[in-house]
Amino acid sequence: MDVTLAFDVYGTLIDTNGVTRLLVSMIGDTAPDFSRLWRDKQLEYAFRRGLMRRYRDFGVCTRDALEFTNAFLKTELSGAQKQRLLDSYRSLPAFADVAPALQALEAAGYRLFAFSNGSAAAVGTLLESAGILARFVDIVSVDEIGTFKPDPDVYRHFLERSGVAGESAWLVSGNAFDIIGAVSAGMRAAWVRRKGDALFDPWDVEPTVTVNSLSGLQQAIRRYTG
Ligand code: 2OP
Repeated sequence: MDVTLAFDVYGTLIDTNGVTRLLVSMIGDTAPDFSRLWRDKQLEYAFRRGLMRRYRDFGVCTRDALEFTNAFLKTELSGAQKQRLLDSYRSLPAFADVAPALQALEAAGYRLFAFSNGSAAAVGTLLESAGILARFVDIVSVDEIGTFKPDPDVYRHFLERSGVAGESAWLVSGNAFDIIGAVSAGMRAAWVRRKGDALFDPWDVEPTVTVNSLSGLQQAIRRYTG
């Protein structure tokens, strides 16, 4: 059976903590807390915009979350510093396991898609700068239907765009909310639990498989599909 893989981008392929070094040079020890709150708020704003049907580009959620975090933590970043942070968000690094794993999956015949809250243009730039764009058949963005993960329409849209049925399509994500969204919409889902202390939400939905890094993905899927 052909297997199609939908890779979440931010937090799965691309390390959103990659801005931390730049943040350290601006605000010192507060940088890890800043980075975490910025990311949490970015996702919260996307969830809220999806529910309220007030869709804007994911970049707007990123920018507004930066403003909130700066005000909440009283870090007093200048306009120029905020712009540098937003610019760096466009060229974040991939996690170290990503490039070799994608290459091996492509060579083994899997169809690889990037599937993201980010616009196709933003994701294309990001994957290009991380040196992994060529591995993907295509980028599927929520921007095409104007809502955000985990709206079930987003996962259905992925299945339509990639032309496969749910049981042949796997979401691969480090974000538990994304895994729950995909499984609920009838897809298989591999949770990438990069940190041993990462918790999965205690809902009545489980990932189809769990891996510590992308290096173990192929074996885990093979074991499941038999
Ligand atoms: C993505 O869609 C959710 O940030 C995540 O890339």
